[in-house]
Amino acid sequence: MRAIDESTITDAVLEQMSSTSDARLKQVMASLVRHLHAFAREVDVTPGEWLAGIRFLTEVGQKCTPFRQEFILLSDTLGISSLVNALHDRRATESCTKSSLLGPFYRQDAPVMKLGESIATKSTAPQICVYGKVVDSAGKGIPNALVQVWEPDETGNYDLQKHDPSEMDLRGCFRTDSGGRYYFRAVCPLGYMIPMDGPVGDMIRAQGRHGYRPAHIHFLIGAPGYRELVTALYISGDDHVESDTVFGVTESLITTVKRNDFASPLPTLPSLHYDFQLAAASPELILGRVGADPSQITKKAG
Ligand code: BEZ
Ligand code: FE
Repeated sequence: MRAIDESTITDAVLEQMSSTSDARLKQVMASLVRHLHAFAREVDVTPGEWLAGIRFLTEVGQKCTPFRQEFILLSDTLGISSLVNALHDRRATESCTKSSLLGPFYRQDAPVMKLGESIATKSTAPQICVYGKVVDSAGKGIPNALVQVWEPDETGNYDLQKHDPSEMDLRGCFRTDSGGRYYFRAVCPLGYMIPMDGPVGDMIRAQGRHGYRPAHIHFLIGAPGYRELVTALYISGDDHVESDTVFGVTESLITTVKRNDFASPLPTLPSLHYDFQLAAASPELILGRVGADPSQITKKAG
């Protein structure tokens, strides 16, 4: 029997896990164990601290419901969601728009709308026109691409944060026209504080962080033969554009609301213009998005 101590425990665990038949699972778990053990050694973690960490993760799980995903929020605030997105972008074989966080407020089955319709069905706030094209890597419009959008309202709240979260608002699905064009009406979103009433909020406060996201509109765009794009447009001038709590902003996704934009399909409204570029689909080891509709994650497998 080998002595299990501080210096042999890592190899003992790796050896026991070496029978894993799935090669990718084996690689991921071995790396996770090596890094977790290195972390425990580096900070010389105490039993009390380790239990506090376990208690924290338990609270994160307990906060999750079909309408609230505290684990995604934790991943976002630790920068892991954006790191995974950056690794995903690096694997694209053609130039394309950068990814940004899906976030915890995405919902499948948003209402299908006609081009030009408003996604803000309940708000009386002034509207803007969001328009542009979905193009391929050569700049050619992609017809019939599915453009899913969702946004917070002018007070910085998503429909999921309102009285009846089962009612959908501030979201919609559009199809691009024959030239790859899309346009819809929306309210100008306000930046907001991420949900702070759970364990992730406690962590953010303990770290002296402000907890805000700058104003943005989310997009999930897909078309057969192309890589799905999960991204967001950030509104220039927002106070938190340089210090997003979840690290979703990158320069190429910052846009400006313009007045008197005669190229807009609705020129009487202030406009936000952006062309999204999709890369050709490439075979990937593991497909999937960072984030998901919270109700899908809480569903039991099987
Ligand atoms: C969002 O943009 O919806 C979001 C992303 C990460 C954390 C909280 C909100
Ligand atoms: Fe958001």
